[in-house]
Amino acid sequence: MIKNLNLLNFRNCEKASYQFGDGLIFITGDNGAGKTTILEAIGLVSFLKSFRFALDREMIRFDASFYRVEAVFAAADGEHKIAIAYGKNPTEEKAALVKKYTFDGRTNEKAAAIIGRIPSVVLSPDDMRIIAGDHSERRRFLDLLLSMLYPAYFAALQHYHRALKLRSQTLKARPDEAMLVAVDRELAQAGVEILEKRRQFIPDFTSPFAENVAKISSARDAWRIDYKGDTGQVKTTDDYMAMLKDHRANDLRLRQTTSGIHRDRIFFTQGGDTNREIRNVGSQGQRRTAALALKTAQFSYMRQKLGATPVLLIDDILNELDLSRRASFIDFLGGGDVGQVFFTTTDLVGMQDFLRQMEKSAVVQNIVLNPTP
Ligand SMILES: Nc1ncnc2c1ncn2[C@@H]1O[C@H](COP(=O)(O)OP(=O)(O)O)[C@@H](O)[C@H]1O
Ligand SMILES: [Mg+2]
Repeated sequence: MIKNLNLLNFRNCEKASYQFGDGLIFITGDNGAGKTTILEAIGLVSFLKSFRFALDREMIRFDASFYRVEAVFAAADGEHKIAIAYGKNPTEEKAALVKKYTFDGRTNEKAAAIIGRIPSVVLSPDDMRIIAGDHSERRRFLDLLLSMLYPAYFAALQHYHRALKLRSQTLKARPDEAMLVAVDRELAQAGVEILEKRRQFIPDFTSPFAENVAKISSARDAWRIDYKGDTGQVKTTDDYMAMLKDHRANDLRLRQTTSGIHRDRIFFTQGGDTNREIRNVGSQGQRRTAALALKTAQFSYMRQKLGATPVLLIDDILNELDLSRRASFIDFLGGGDVGQVFFTTTDLVGMQDFLRQMEKSAVVQNIVLNPTP
């Protein structure tokens, strides 16, 4: 649970401090008031990135040289503080932009030591991108979820992306065999670790996802998740290296790595038929159902694996849901242990109606943002 959030030069916010209680928190205000910004900041201290796909420099307040977000949170082992700062030293004109993580006052912590300390799940209109977008969107979803659960997965991803960069430089430099093998081994070691976790995850996650789809659609929809790619036969580091070698001629020509976990594909299909992908055959309503099912399943899955309740960040989606999806969402929120939930909305009138339906006695806190001049 997040107790305290301090923002400095973050988006339109020059300086602000918020105290939060447990339960439901409604953040209201006009368009552009900074509602999503607050959720974005909470997301940042949770998974180190903007859920709006923004770059760090885009989150620095215009005309400022850095941002800082600080959160005090209560976990099973007590209270902790995370701070993330990004920018450059204002006194040094040529200084590089750097991102710094602080945990309980220890500066220069590694990202892997911070990610997932505050587990969270975001629900936003952008979730449709996971359902309807390119495979990279679904890989991103997977990577984020697994990184929050397993810091070692996050570290393997960082390792993998460094090796991938090195390999593409190597491919451009007329490499000899020994050099390529050395780079491939780096890639393969991280790749196999990532692959293993993804392979465990997919079947494990499919059932809560499918259950939620059925619940929200009153059993009219059924989608499953499939993971496919050139890594299909890979089990060991040697297998991974053999796969890379198989694609090497092509990779040398294209000067990039064309096989591996960064190219694997994730499908939402009817009955496993990749010609019947939701992004091609699903209606708008079916996609919406799937997006909601995905995120509510993520919440249950993370809670089960962590033995702790993730913070829910719900950005602007309540008004988008039709009555039946809204009802099943209320069911989800009211049906047990959702802990701290942040909602943003411009329209509190609709919310009161929503609240009545929830029949939940959780504390409700209203934060009203004034429009910035
Ligand atoms: N880097 C930035 N510096 C200053 N203002 C910004 C920056 N990025 C976005 N904004 C502005 O911040 C305001 C708040 O945005 P947002 O949190 O999305 O509002 P809301 O969700 O309440 O509609 C918007 O007016 C936006 O133009
Ligand atoms: Mg918004």
